Amino acid sequence: MAQALAVETHGLTKRYSTGVLAVDDLDLRVRTGEVYGFLGPNGAGKTTTLRLLSGLIHPTSGSAIVAGAVPGSPASLARLGAMVETPAFYPYLSGRDNLRVVARYAGVPKSRIDPVLKLVDLTDRAKHKFKTYSTGMKQRLGVAAALLKGPDLLILDEPTSGLDPQGTIEMRALIKELKQGGRTVLLSSHLLNEVELTCDRVGVIAKGKLVAEGTVDELRARSGGRTLRIHATPLEQAQRLLESFLNPDQVRVIDGSLVLNVDPAQAASINRRLVADGVDVSELRVDEQSLENVFLQLTEAPTQPTPASGGGDRSGKVEGNK
Ligand SMILES: Nc1ncnc2c1ncn2[C@@H]1O[C@H](COP(=O)(O)OP(=O)(O)O)[C@@H](O)[C@H]1O
Ligand SMILES: [Mg+2]
Repeated sequence: MAQALAVETHGLTKRYSTGVLAVDDLDLRVRTGEVYGFLGPNGAGKTTTLRLLSGLIHPTSGSAIVAGAVPGSPASLARLGAMVETPAFYPYLSGRDNLRVVARYAGVPKSRIDPVLKLVDLTDRAKHKFKTYSTGMKQRLGVAAALLKGPDLLILDEPTSGLDPQGTIEMRALIKELKQGGRTVLLSSHLLNEVELTCDRVGVIAKGKLVAEGTVDELRARSGGRTLRIHATPLEQAQRLLESFLNPDQVRVIDGSLVLNVDPAQAASINRRLVADGVDVSELRVDEQSLENVFLQLTEAPTQPTPASGGGDRSGKVEGNK
């Protein structure tokens, strides 16, 4: 790997002149060739971060390297395609003519226009006026404009926001295709499901801070992962027994069931011990921690520490500063 990281930030921080700390000491690493999902609720600081990385605004402190160079520098911009601000297209020009304008402005040969239109699946509508496009088509034309330079890295701010189900599916397919073409894609979303479906790795941002980073499976695992749910009677007796050989904070009672934070491989032996003690076990199943819960836990819990996952990394705590 000549250059393993497409984006790297160190302590990236942005405080707007209003005093709002939108991005707080962010260390982000996007690997070359991956689709990286930047996930966080509204107001978390996603757009601000992507504007920083695109060189549209300057950080208050900290630094970043984007496509091998400082954000906003000619070297970085030459290799970066970004759709961060809503692209301003001329409503009465066709899609193709809008791209001609962008190409001329960016000093890109006109020969790039047709391949890019094809990639975003707008060839058939290229001669129609922009104002007749659906939201999904407008969005894809925005991606086309970002692709004109043939960038190695594409930054897309909420590329599926506002799209209907069909438009969303088409945008996802496009993102997959871009990755297959060898590009790195950094996209933001406030929708968990979206990044789960399209991204190799995810960075979760809340209140300007990166609270977790990893694959979707790693995120799931770090917040408890899978649990064992047991319906047993009498409940108190079962609970006492379990607490006698498990760590007490591995045993919880939720909705009348015992929820154990243990390796599911222990299910059979736990069942044997309960039955041997005279407890009736009417149900025993492995629950996947839903990613939704993980996300909520990471982004909303005001002061709750992230459960220890063996690594002493930066996600030790979710700061509550609101
Ligand atoms: N130009 C700006 N001036 C002042 N505050 C801003 C500006 N843009 C965004 N903010 C604030 O910064 C925080 C992060 O916003 P933003 O980066 O847009 O989050 P996201 O894209 O995750 O929804 C919010 O509190 C928002 O109100
Ligand atoms: Mg935003």
